[in-house]
Amino acid sequence: MSGFSADWLALREPADHAARNGDVLADVARHVAGRDHLSIIDLGCGAGSNLRGFALSLPARRQSWTLIDYDAALLKAARERLIAWADETEELGEELLIEKSGKTLTIDFRQADLNADMERIAGWRPDLVTAAALFDLVSPAWIDRFAAALARWKLPLYTVLVYDGREQWTPPHPLDAAIHDAFLAHQRRDKGFGPSAGPDAARLMEAAFSKQNYRVASGESPWRLGVEDAALIAQLAGGVASAAAETGLPAADVEQWRAFRETAARAPGASARVGHRDLFTAP
Ligand SMILES: C[S@@+](CC[C@H](N)C(=O)[O-])C[C@H]1O[C@@H](n2cnc3c(N)ncnc32)[C@H](O)[C@@H]1O
Repeated sequence: MSGFSADWLALREPADHAARNGDVLADVARHVAGRDHLSIIDLGCGAGSNLRGFALSLPARRQSWTLIDYDAALLKAARERLIAWADETEELGEELLIEKSGKTLTIDFRQADLNADMERIAGWRPDLVTAAALFDLVSPAWIDRFAAALARWKLPLYTVLVYDGREQWTPPHPLDAAIHDAFLAHQRRDKGFGPSAGPDAARLMEAAFSKQNYRVASGESPWRLGVEDAALIAQLAGGVASAAAETGLPAADVEQWRAFRETAARAPGASARVGHRDLFTAP
C-alpha cells in the first residue's frame, strides 16, 4: 500500500486531465511526430490516469505501455479502469491489448520500487518515459540519479503535475498560512526516496536535466477548482489537514480549518488553485 487510494486518484482524475499544459504536450507530440509505434514507460502509474489522459494525444497509432508502481492494489485498479475505458479489450496473459478511438495499445503492468529499481527500468530503453504527480515525492539525490540514468540511454521524459508549493483557497481563513507552512514541511518528509524535494522538484529537475545537456520545456498546470469540484476540494482539504496535523499543529486548529474548508467548498464562489508544473526534457 502506497497511501494513495484508488478512490482519491479517481476523484482527482478529471482535474488532472484538465490541468495538462497544452504547450508542453504539443512539444512532446512534435518530438514523436511521424512515429507509427511508440514504447512508453509510466512511472508511479497509480490507477492508470496518466495513460488515459495522454495516450490519445500521441500521434502514434500503435503504443506499447509499461505501467509501473510498487502498490499491487493500484496496479489492479489500473487494469480494471483501463478495461472499463477501452472500446475493446483482449487479455493476453498479464498484458492487456486494447483498442481506443482508433489506437491499439498493449499494456504491461509491473510491480517495482522506483527507489531501488530505477536504473534497471531505464535500461529497458523505451521511446519515452512519463509520469504524473510523482516527483514531489522523490529526493533531490534521486532526481540527480534519475537524470543520469535517462541520459545514459538518451531517453526523453514527459512529466505532468509536479506540485510547485503554491495554493490559494477561497474564501480565505485565518489559519490558511499556518496550515500551508505545515503542509509544506510535511511535503519534505521522506516518502521512500530520502527527504523529499517537495515543492522544489520541478526546479531541481530542470537543473539536473540541463546538467545532462538536455533541453527542458516547462509550463504551469494548476488545478483550478470551483464549486462544481466541491467533493475534490473537500477531500483535498482533508488530506492537507491530515498532513498538517502530523507536523504537530494543534489538533483543534487543524480540525477547525478542515471543517471550514469542507463547508466552504459547497458555498457559492468557493475555489481552490493548486500549483503544478509540466515538463518535457530531451537530449
Ligand atoms: C500521487 S500518486 C499518482 C498516481 C498516478 N500517476 C496518477 O497521476 O494518478 C503517486 C504514485 O506513485 C507511486 N509510488 C510512490 N512511491 C513509489 C515507489 N517508490 N515505487 C513505485 N511507485 C511509487 C504511488 O503508489 C502512487 O501510485
